[in-house]
Amino acid sequence: MEKAALRLDEEEVIDLPVASGTDKQQAIDIQGLRAATGLVTLDPGYANTAETTSSVTFIDGEAGVLRYRGYPVDQLVDHSSFLEVAYLLDNAELPTDEELDYFRNRVSEHCALPKGFEKVLESVPDGTHPMQKLAVSVTLLGSSRSDRPKGSEAYVSDFIRLIAMMPTLVAWSYRSGHDQVYIKPDPDLGYVANFLNMTFHPGQGDYRPTEAHIKAMEALLILHADHGQNLSTSAVRLVGSGRTDVYSSICAGVLALSGPLHGGANQRVIEMLEEILAAGGNTRLFMDRAKDREDPFRLMGFGHRVYKNVDPRALIIKRYARDMVDKNSSRLFDLAMRLEKEALADDFFVSRRIYPNVDYYSGIIYQAMGFPTEMFTVLFALGRLPGWLSQLREMMRESNAPIKRPRQLYTGYPKRDFPTRSDR
Ligand code: CMC
Repeated sequence: MEKAALRLDEEEVIDLPVASGTDKQQAIDIQGLRAATGLVTLDPGYANTAETTSSVTFIDGEAGVLRYRGYPVDQLVDHSSFLEVAYLLDNAELPTDEELDYFRNRVSEHCALPKGFEKVLESVPDGTHPMQKLAVSVTLLGSSRSDRPKGSEAYVSDFIRLIAMMPTLVAWSYRSGHDQVYIKPDPDLGYVANFLNMTFHPGQGDYRPTEAHIKAMEALLILHADHGQNLSTSAVRLVGSGRTDVYSSICAGVLALSGPLHGGANQRVIEMLEEILAAGGNTRLFMDRAKDREDPFRLMGFGHRVYKNVDPRALIIKRYARDMVDKNSSRLFDLAMRLEKEALADDFFVSRRIYPNVDYYSGIIYQAMGFPTEMFTVLFALGRLPGWLSQLREMMRESNAPIKRPRQLYTGYPKRDFPTRSDR
């Protein structure tokens, strides 16, 4: 299809061009609609709106397909590393050995926080959620640059700097709230092992993360690395379209991710499973609540705007969860599997095509690795960072990327005259 006809009334029909994407995806291009007709479109939640073209990530929600720059995500999990995937997302191609070495070395050079920066996180009020700490510190990282290069080199340098420092910030955002000493980065360990070391090192003596933990963490980070125009990525693009600095745009992504309908769901899944266990394992009660239209409760970790048959990330994560569960986490894992089975046999969920999403089993792995629940969404942010950065760069490469400014359909009062106070 090259054109779509829009009938406005009996006489007036206008043709709208149809744009084509990869794998037969198509979109009606309405860029000329308002100029031609005076009309705008109404699409709350953008469920039918492609806000941009993008060549970073391909998703087929009906078939449960996810590819980064063309590569199926399961192949990347099996054969690649998170750093390599970060490079791929931004550069569109996998790195050669030399390119990867160069990238790794540059990341290693920048993983320490700027001098004195540890104090920032020590001074936030007790009880501040690690996501809020992360948002604050990411913003402040932008202002702690005295050596900022100009032009396209500035972006490359911010990209490296953020990818390099994020594990340090995430680890410290946790430890600083638990009166634990700051563990300096040791890039020789490798990106993921260094992150686990900074998070879990007891402060004295030896600590080495296990190979199984490193592998699972790599897999989780890769699976979270990008996901098209999701809420947090859209927030990054939206804020960036006003030409903010990279750090402010990424801060917007962190804050958008923290909501329970988005990345915050991974924390809520474990809280929900624990609540069910505390209620004697009565899943029926919670299923009934989720189905009750008067009750705002939802089954956390279920449902997705795009995936309507299966979330391919959830399948891979469930496999890792099965391998990782220990005595402590097996009760939650067994319960999670029981709840999934019951939901997938229930007409409410089947008819609405609601399946476990990426957040359903990830917390079980994080918990088995020793992460406290409040850290789960921060780990999502660590994984999503290269996606945010790559999407931001993609947008900024467009010549004259427009500021994002949706229209609205105003439904408030028509014009009325100002009444004196005695007439109100
Ligand atoms: N539990 C109970 N009912 C649900 C759920 C759920 N988890 N998800 C959707 N529904 C129902 C919803 O109530 C609605 O019912 P009805 O047709 O009777 O009004 C119908 O299914 C469609 O839901 P929706 O909210 O219109 O669908 P959406 O595409 O706008 O929302 C979602 C997608 C992810 C926000 C939603 O499924 C949800 O709230 N899930 C729980 C939170 C969650 O797990 N979020 C993580 C999403 S995946 C990772 C990420 O993107 O961050």
